[in-house]
Amino acid sequence: MDMRVLRETAKKQMIGKCRVCPVCNGRVCAGEVPGMGGTGTGEAFTENVRALASYKLNMRTIHDALQPDTRVEMFGQQLKTPIMGAPITGAAINAGDALNELDMVSALVEGSQLAGSIGWIGDPANPSMYEDGLESIRRAGQGIAIIKPRVDIKEMIELFKLAEKAGAIALGTDLDGAGLITMALKGQPVGPKTKEQLIELVQSTALPFIVKGIMTVDEAIKCVEVGATAIVVSNHGGRVLDHTPGVADVLPEIARAVKGKVTILADGGIRSGADILKLLALGADGVLIGRPLIMGAYGGGTEGVKTIIDKYTSELKAAMILTGCKSIQEIGPEILWHK
Ligand SMILES: Cc1cc2nc3c(=O)[nH]c(=O)nc-3n(C[C@H](O)[C@H](O)[C@H](O)COP(=O)(O)O)c2cc1C
Repeated sequence: MDMRVLRETAKKQMIGKCRVCPVCNGRVCAGEVPGMGGTGTGEAFTENVRALASYKLNMRTIHDALQPDTRVEMFGQQLKTPIMGAPITGAAINAGDALNELDMVSALVEGSQLAGSIGWIGDPANPSMYEDGLESIRRAGQGIAIIKPRVDIKEMIELFKLAEKAGAIALGTDLDGAGLITMALKGQPVGPKTKEQLIELVQSTALPFIVKGIMTVDEAIKCVEVGATAIVVSNHGGRVLDHTPGVADVLPEIARAVKGKVTILADGGIRSGADILKLLALGADGVLIGRPLIMGAYGGGTEGVKTIIDKYTSELKAAMILTGCKSIQEIGPEILWHK
């Protein structure tokens, strides 16, 4: 699908919610939550973009990395690309009612799958929207479900069971959603979890367990200790707590502490294949994309989402050739230049 057409369509479809800026960096939409921005000053979103931009790539062309391999194994599945569709909910309230919830999440999950990857779903305050996410997993035949850290653990486990039945290949919680007042206002209060509670959650399912929203070394270590399969180093795209650092700034120390002990995923501010290469070099095993895929869904549905993932994958491949990386597993910090 033509990128120019996709962007122009998205701009019309998302009018009043997203300006589809030339660079999606959180500046003009600062504070627009609900909406597409970051919370408060919007800095947690803009920091994600700035932190990524602060790393440069060492260009190297004397080697034999002619045909880089972008495949990765993720939760027992072979994916064509390390780029996955992040969990996104609240189509109408955040991105505009040109798409209903089922349209948006289906485009995200099915588009990710068509690109040889996997899409994730989230868990908003409105239970019918979780059902839309589950339906998109049923349609695609696979997906990953991320449940809000509800105060009632039993309720979380019920929601995990529904995801298992729908065909999820992994599940977990966006622990960084622990302060979301909107959930409490809709009668579904959320909150932080103790290690004991996390162990109960991990042991409630046979599926790989993911903790999304880890930004510090001590909490990454706790995730290893409770038996999580994966963490997502993420500040929720800057939407939950103002003034958090950029993901690319905290990822290296987290990777130094837990690399190899848990799968490390990262998201926030990724806007190109080069950004993905940087996060992989900083220690991530895979990445999630949020806002650009929402734009893809509004601009071209399932095909639009696939187009963006394909574009980032081919940019990643080109950047791997020019930095001398033959495979995702081979990517390391030596390809980075930092002042
Ligand atoms: C409109 C919107 C809705 C989101 N909804 C959820 C959600 O329900 N659950 C979740 O874990 N993360 C949610 N996120 C966060 C994303 O999964 C992801 O962490 C973030 O968007 C990555 O940053 P990026 O948009 O800059 O790529 C949402 C993000 C946006 C922009």
